[in-house]
Amino acid sequence: MHSDETILVTGGAGFIGAQLALELKERHTGKRVVALDNLKRRGSELNLKRLKEGGVEFLHGDVREMADLPEIVNLSLIIECSAEPSVLAGFGESPRYVIASNLTGAINCLELARKTSAAMIFLSTSRVYPLRPLCGIKLKEGETRFTVLPEQTLPGVSEAGISEAFPLEGARSLYGATKYAAEVFINEYAQMYGLRAIVNRCGVIAGPWQMGRIDQGIMALWISRHLFGGALSYIGFGGKGLQVRDMLHVRDLLDLVVYQANEIDKLKGHTFNVGGGVTNSASLYELTGLCRHVTGNSIEIRSAPEERPADIPYYVTDNTAVRQACGWSPRYSLETIVSDTVRWMRDNQEALRSILE
Ligand SMILES: NC(=O)c1ccc[n+]([C@@H]2O[C@H](COP(=O)([O-])OP(=O)(O)OC[C@H]3O[C@@H](n4cnc5c(N)ncnc54)[C@H](O)[C@@H]3O)[C@@H](O)[C@H]2O)c1
Repeated sequence: MHSDETILVTGGAGFIGAQLALELKERHTGKRVVALDNLKRRGSELNLKRLKEGGVEFLHGDVREMADLPEIVNLSLIIECSAEPSVLAGFGESPRYVIASNLTGAINCLELARKTSAAMIFLSTSRVYPLRPLCGIKLKEGETRFTVLPEQTLPGVSEAGISEAFPLEGARSLYGATKYAAEVFINEYAQMYGLRAIVNRCGVIAGPWQMGRIDQGIMALWISRHLFGGALSYIGFGGKGLQVRDMLHVRDLLDLVVYQANEIDKLKGHTFNVGGGVTNSASLYELTGLCRHVTGNSIEIRSAPEERPADIPYYVTDNTAVRQACGWSPRYSLETIVSDTVRWMRDNQEALRSILE
């Protein structure tokens, strides 16, 4: 990338977008980095000061409105991080916002890329994989977590996690559907207009500056409850907290995306599963143990055996493809994610108390 180029990060005041914009600015000092955000997510306003101090320009705008996406001169790359990122979005409420933001918004970003010949890195989600096959993975119930059995009937699943070969047919939540539909359009724009794009299907991303909510940002929520108090429940799958996720430190994701931004011509057309992998996986029950260990606090955790809509017992990323193509693997452990997040929460207690639900 040349120094007179501009990078646009949409959702650039969010958890990932803001840290990515700051990281890109730091690593490419001469370059202009613009963060666009409508500040819908509570707490994203706290990032504005950091963006300013880091030399990132902030643009208050909404990806749903094409008029808010300026045709910036020398725009070389759009990193699409804006979203309504909750898997529960649309349940018991209108689906309009999640559809307009995640799908129309992504298409508007594609239109901007088409008009300016910018490349795109799209932050997609593991939730593009449909619910029924995910719930059909054969699991064994252990003392503290579910584990994947060696014999599986579905493609793309093994003890190493879930790969890009996993089936894509079936319902997946409106969040997953809007992200998957955006991926479909990215492929069409690549085919029809020569768009250079990379798609990262991220599992759970965690770390400092995540404004955890009950419906999104589970790790931040779990940690903040241990620090500041409040109720937690093991919901679904027997109510014992055996469901498993892998978690990736946001810093690891930044390293990967910065690498991809520099290698877009080599990596264009790729879709990767990206996550913490088996080593960085934990059940909720195990996460509780880690939170107790790091914070020194114990809180009561209730049991609610009934599943929530769109919930799944197991998701762990198989990072083989991204490791082979990008030479990337997660560096930070689960314990580091928890201790870094605890430190950030303690340092920013006053500002965060009313934001972290
Ligand atoms: N955090 C995770 O665990 C995770 C996992 C998989 C994928 N992702 C994806 O990564 C991206 C970033 O997620 P995040 O965790 O930083 O979430 P976030 O909610 O912290 O950030 C998203 C940002 O987008 C902004 N936004 C929402 N609607 C907008 C709109 N219409 N126009 C402009 N800005 C808008 C919000 O204000 C927020 O600042 C999202 O695309 C999400 O789907 C995140």
